Amino acid sequence: MNKEIILLKIDQLLASEEPFILKRICDILKQEVYHYDWVGIYVLEGSILKLTDYVGKYTEHSQIPVGKGVCGQVAESNKTMIVQDVKTEDNYIACSIDVQSEIVVPIKRDGRFVAEIDIDSHSMAPFTDADVELLETIANKISHLI
Ligand code: SME
Repeated sequence: MNKEIILLKIDQLLASEEPFILKRICDILKQEVYHYDWVGIYVLEGSILKLTDYVGKYTEHSQIPVGKGVCGQVAESNKTMIVQDVKTEDNYIACSIDVQSEIVVPIKRDGRFVAEIDIDSHSMAPFTDADVELLETIANKISHLI
């Protein structure tokens, strides 16, 4: 992964007048990072997380209650969560049998949880501090769009 190139592409997109910016940010992440196989954004509405944009396989989990699954846990904790091996996580909602690991990063406004970036990987234990830094930086850059 080349963090500088990804952030440059995202900055260019944010500075443009182009439509569907959140969907296109999902596209950039999936294209640029080998171990990102499904990239989506869930937005909090009441006590439900709603999938607003994604790239990758269709999922029937377009609505997730707060507290359920990895996504729902992050909505409660407001902290980035990495599951390096989904088989070890009890509170997990499976979207596809190909998924081996997952990272979920909160998007905050004025410190409050408003949405999250959810990434599934077909690789085992691929996530490092570099993913956390990249995705938390992007979460800050896009929070005004939620
Ligand atoms: N695995 C997630 C559900 C969403 S899918 O990954 C798209 C979870 O446990 O919350």
